[in-house]
Amino acid sequence: MTAEQAAPASAAQIAVHWREEEYRHPPARFIAQANAGDPRILERFGEDHFPECFKEYADLLSWDAYWHTTLDTSNAPFWRWFVGGRLNACYNCVDRHLPSSRNKAAFIWVPEPETERTEAVTYQELYRRVNEFAALLRDFCRVRVGDRVTFHLPMVPELPVSMLACARLGVVHSEVFGGFSGSACGDRIADSGSHILVTMDGYYRNGELIDHKAKADEALATARKLGMEVDKVLVWRRHPGRYASASPMVDGRDYFVDDLIKEYRGLLVEPVSMPAEAPLFLMYTSGTTARPKGCQHSTGGYLAYVAGTSKYYQDIHPEDTYWCFADIGWITGHSYIVYGPLALGTTSVLYEGVPTYPDPGRPWRIAERLGVTIFHTAPTTIRMLRKLGPDEPAKYDYHFKHMTTVGEPIEPDVWRWYYEVVGKREAVIVDTWWQTENGGFLGSTLPALQPMKPGSCGPGVLGIYPVIYDEDRNVVEAGSGRAGNICIRNPWPGIFQTIWGQPERFVQLYYEKYCRNKDSTDWHDWPYLAGDGAVQAPDGYFRILGRIDDVINVAGHRLGTKELESASLTVAEVAEAAAVPVVDELRGRVVEMYVALKPGIAASAEIEAKVAGAIETEIGKIARPRSVWIVPDMPKTRSGKIMRRVIAGISNFADVGDVSTLANPEIVDDIRHRVQGVKVSRGEVPRELSSQEVEEITAFGRAEG
Ligand code: WTA
Repeated sequence: MTAEQAAPASAAQIAVHWREEEYRHPPARFIAQANAGDPRILERFGEDHFPECFKEYADLLSWDAYWHTTLDTSNAPFWRWFVGGRLNACYNCVDRHLPSSRNKAAFIWVPEPETERTEAVTYQELYRRVNEFAALLRDFCRVRVGDRVTFHLPMVPELPVSMLACARLGVVHSEVFGGFSGSACGDRIADSGSHILVTMDGYYRNGELIDHKAKADEALATARKLGMEVDKVLVWRRHPGRYASASPMVDGRDYFVDDLIKEYRGLLVEPVSMPAEAPLFLMYTSGTTARPKGCQHSTGGYLAYVAGTSKYYQDIHPEDTYWCFADIGWITGHSYIVYGPLALGTTSVLYEGVPTYPDPGRPWRIAERLGVTIFHTAPTTIRMLRKLGPDEPAKYDYHFKHMTTVGEPIEPDVWRWYYEVVGKREAVIVDTWWQTENGGFLGSTLPALQPMKPGSCGPGVLGIYPVIYDEDRNVVEAGSGRAGNICIRNPWPGIFQTIWGQPERFVQLYYEKYCRNKDSTDWHDWPYLAGDGAVQAPDGYFRILGRIDDVINVAGHRLGTKELESASLTVAEVAEAAAVPVVDELRGRVVEMYVALKPGIAASAEIEAKVAGAIETEIGKIARPRSVWIVPDMPKTRSGKIMRRVIAGISNFADVGDVSTLANPEIVDDIRHRVQGVKVSRGEVPRELSSQEVEEITAFGRAEG
């Protein structure tokens, strides 16, 4: 065996085999009305026109002062876009639409209970609500330009109102997904240094009015442990005047917004003119360590990028009713429920609840009722709706012109159901690949100009020039059939500016691997490492294979293995923990935890439950593992590293590869017998995995070296 063969193969060296899917062409009716219908747009955004091509996006906005430098690379890789420009994001999303569209709905909010009425918030009404809340933040909370405010809000209109109020003041908002635990929220409060928390008493989920305020108390306790004292908790009430939480309001700290805001009725707050590079918001995401990364997004570059991609890739026209069925607690919601659609002055639908409540016809009833023309969701939702209500869409009279899938790879079979049954063969589909860090789309077909191919996101979007590199920095050619690390060669306006408070980590994680010269101020030397494995077909289309780092994508949510493991280690009996991804028909991947106990402690169902409970407390319900396996020892390398790919292989009934070099090879059969024995008895044997899935599972954890 040569040294090369002995080294673990990286994602970059794995050959991938699959059948190429056939193209589907956009319906003629779509092409006739598309915002990007003229192929010359592809030329305008060609590399010869970079970076000035992005003027076309920035010109969709209203600037208080025009920029003098489109792209400043002098402090690479901390790119600065539209330098010298000034604008206000709230003004761009609200005020400027008033003269033409005052009475048009900015949001249509659909509460989960069907007995509650849909609420349309016009641009005028939004303007008033945002101003009043901005006045409250400024005068009661005394927040100032550049301060951070954390939100822990569900899918209610109060969330975009709070975001836009911060944007109006030049205050940086940091929304934590409502489904995250109080403790996860507390970590993010402390990391961002927020003195104010904005939350809600409760919200509906799957028919239940959930007590949400209780999480605020946990969040504050966690933040305090980390040295951060929160001064004020602003509590919106799901039903104003009626408190839905059992958690007591703390005197002098907790305030009902519906009470306080009466004092600010009718107040107007001048939008603060911000430099284009001022931070607009933080969005936390998981990565290779337990500490979440606060991705810092800019005002001008970000807003220009989401406005431009909403126009050309979402094909939003002012008269469309646009429904992005994601949570605003994730980047998709920030960019493609709030900022992009509102910058274009469209009507954006917000739905409070789960897709299948009270039955899997719900989304199609909403679409029919509101006349939704553009629909945007994730593969996990599509899979669930297909499983529970495969024939439901046909029962409703709605007609989409455009549909999006985002967040995970979509199986061609699921894509076909989306296209044929949900879209009724009338709608074009875009499969948009991107990340929290990116602000907006990176890979997608341009809907009227480039045909769709199930399972492939398409080429790089306008002004984005992707490349696949192998581990040795060689370009992996299109059509080579080999996978590698997908990178973006150039900066773009939507790219995040840094990881909040951790600039070295920003450079190290995203740029170090392929940087050609650390002293260079030429962007060509700084490819951006996305952290996904990908393959490029001969036609230039990319197929995304999944994360190459220690992240598990559960139902489109990024969970860091280190976060899961450190949560498990809060259980006193646990000595070691390892999280692995398991293929799941609905959620894409689910988590299984392996734990080894401290000496002398016997395995028990109680400890298993404690581990699952700790994960729910530290991260949230979405991270709850499907199983917790207590094992006598973890399979380890001679240097003591846990071999996650071996246990991942066992959990997925996949080949675990050569284990003879492990320090304790005998443990592998032992674990396999136990785990697979239980799984067989529970009927949890997965279908046979595709070669792509096997490659992902067996590559898992290789980044650990
Ligand atoms: C994955 C969500 C395949 C990918 C916007 C990426 C996708 C991670 C797609 C980012 C897609 C996202 N096809 N995989 N269309 N979109 N991903 O930060 O692994 O929550 O790195 O951003 O999701 O997830 P994030």
